[in-house]
Amino acid sequence: MANIFLSSIGKKLVMSISGLFLMVFLVLHLCINLSAVVSQSAYNAACEFMDTNIFIRIMVPVLTLGVVVHIIFATIITLRNRKARPVKYAVGTGTKASTWASRNMFVLGLIVLGFLAIHLVHFWAKMQLQHFTGGVPAKDPYLLVKSTLENPINAAIYLAWFAALWFHLCHGFWSAFQSSGLNNSRWLSRLQVAAKAFATLVVAGLSVVVLYFALGLAPKAAAGGASHGVEPKVTLVQ
Ligand code: HEM
Repeated sequence: MANIFLSSIGKKLVMSISGLFLMVFLVLHLCINLSAVVSQSAYNAACEFMDTNIFIRIMVPVLTLGVVVHIIFATIITLRNRKARPVKYAVGTGTKASTWASRNMFVLGLIVLGFLAIHLVHFWAKMQLQHFTGGVPAKDPYLLVKSTLENPINAAIYLAWFAALWFHLCHGFWSAFQSSGLNNSRWLSRLQVAAKAFATLVVAGLSVVVLYFALGLAPKAAAGGASHGVEPKVTLVQ
């Protein structure tokens, strides 16, 4: 049984299933992010739901495992391919963008991961992590997002991240379906179009949220005294 996952097809299958799983997470995350454009209370309610919902609480460790599995298998496949084929050959299918992305998936993945680390420091470390360390979690997620993305450097970092994510998703989406055996030659070009549409919608949605705050379009938030998303410690001790 373990041999299945060690075979080339098995490894690709693990990559595609974990990749599809991460895409589902991304869509869910995007929907929550978009609620920040609706209102402060909508976003905070969505975050509260994510924090307390039992399904989501179980999903977060599973998601972490999905990311780890995706990276481990990507590394194994890339190293094996490099060993087997030290001189790269051009991939003949697809458009220019997907071809370039397909040849650079590992590097793109590392870039996405690097930015993800910055992102987790921005938010997760100030929210969820505090529950584990006994620290003080940011009281108002909306204010934290607002203050982070109003910073032009952070906004630029996020937009650069989304550009790398677009290329990674463009190839990853159709490749995941292809590896899962869910396509045939007739569907190949349709899948590539669907992949681009999916990547573009996700990245456009994420960028809307960043630009909304970066361009100062968000109304003045109901701050309750906090100016940067994290309440002063004294006010949080209840
Ligand atoms: C506009 C863009 C984004 C905003 C405003 C945003 C906001 C947030 C916030 C506020 C959290 C903390 C949630 C909590 O701890 O309860 C979070 C966590 C997280 N984000 Fe994002 N995010 C964005 C884009 C992304 C993207 C593109 C990815 C993946 C490629 C991503 C992956 C994650 C992960 C893995 C976590 C930790 C798991 C979790 O707490 O749900 N985020 N994000």
